[in-house]
Amino acid sequence: MKTISSNLIQIFNILSDLNYHDGDTIGNKLGITRSAVWKAIKKLEEYGIEISSVKNKGYKLKEPLLLLNKERIEKEINDPKMDIEVFENIDSTSTYLKKNFNTNKRKICIAEIQTNGRGRMGRSWHSPFGQNIYLSYAYPIKKDISELSGLSLVLGIAEIAALKEIGIEEEIKLKWPNDVMYKGQKLMGNLVEIQSESYGETMAIIGVGINVNMIIGSEIITQDWTSLRKITGKYIDRNKLCVALIHNLNFTLEKFTQYGLREFISKWYELDSLYNLPIKLNNGEFEGIAKGINEQGNLLLELKNGEIKAFSSGEASICK
Ligand code: BTN
Repeated sequence: MKTISSNLIQIFNILSDLNYHDGDTIGNKLGITRSAVWKAIKKLEEYGIEISSVKNKGYKLKEPLLLLNKERIEKEINDPKMDIEVFENIDSTSTYLKKNFNTNKRKICIAEIQTNGRGRMGRSWHSPFGQNIYLSYAYPIKKDISELSGLSLVLGIAEIAALKEIGIEEEIKLKWPNDVMYKGQKLMGNLVEIQSESYGETMAIIGVGINVNMIIGSEIITQDWTSLRKITGKYIDRNKLCVALIHNLNFTLEKFTQYGLREFISKWYELDSLYNLPIKLNNGEFEGIAKGINEQGNLLLELKNGEIKAFSSGEASICK
């Protein structure tokens, strides 16, 4: 686990124009030796960043890459009651917050790379350096654990609102229980973990993974996926998206704490990608037509005999 080093930030500032810069010039600007520059460049290559290195010309980024900027995010969020930590690398932002939350303070952890990013159902979450958003939020909620069944569903609503806020207008939809999809491909995933405290205090550790600028995936991604860059054809500034995401999560979580899932049901219907489609649950254990969700956030399936049955968990897929 490491916070972003100032050398790394400055090297990126120099290389961000996508031109060649030689080791001596970079070293002079940073007040470090040419071999320290070389070491920093090697570190970036270890992180999987493609750098072209040409004798007598120097180093050049092959792809644009804007780093996360803690000061900028903090300034735009402007909330003294919230802690924001930004790491250069970490095993998992959610694992970190599970060990380091503060019972009466909201805390956000964001990282450039996760070496052990976790998804739902024990899957891993592909988390390459500098390309996507890996953000976890430790959010204290004054609600009993039994009232939190709908929490993971409202996150997708907040995330789609954040995309709208930064001008992304493509038709992005929800897939029960907590995926955000574009044309059947996964764009974001949410992992909610609840730490129950005594006296009715509950801490929700909300983990959000958004595929932002990733173009090439990995064999560890087992689902069809896409990214904002693939959808829009544009490089997205992750700092701007982090700010919009935190704003919309705050707004949504406050509303959820006050009114519960009930307030979000009509929005869910508007964004539901499964509605009225034939669905298989848990690899065909159940089949039926999706009819939205109930007030507990359970998926409603109309079975062949006409009965509407509610399911509290499972993996849904559209029948081909
Ligand atoms: C899913 O399987 O759809 C949920 C993916 C959640 C990934 C995010 S990335 C930030 C946070 N840290 C983790 O290790 N996982 C979540």
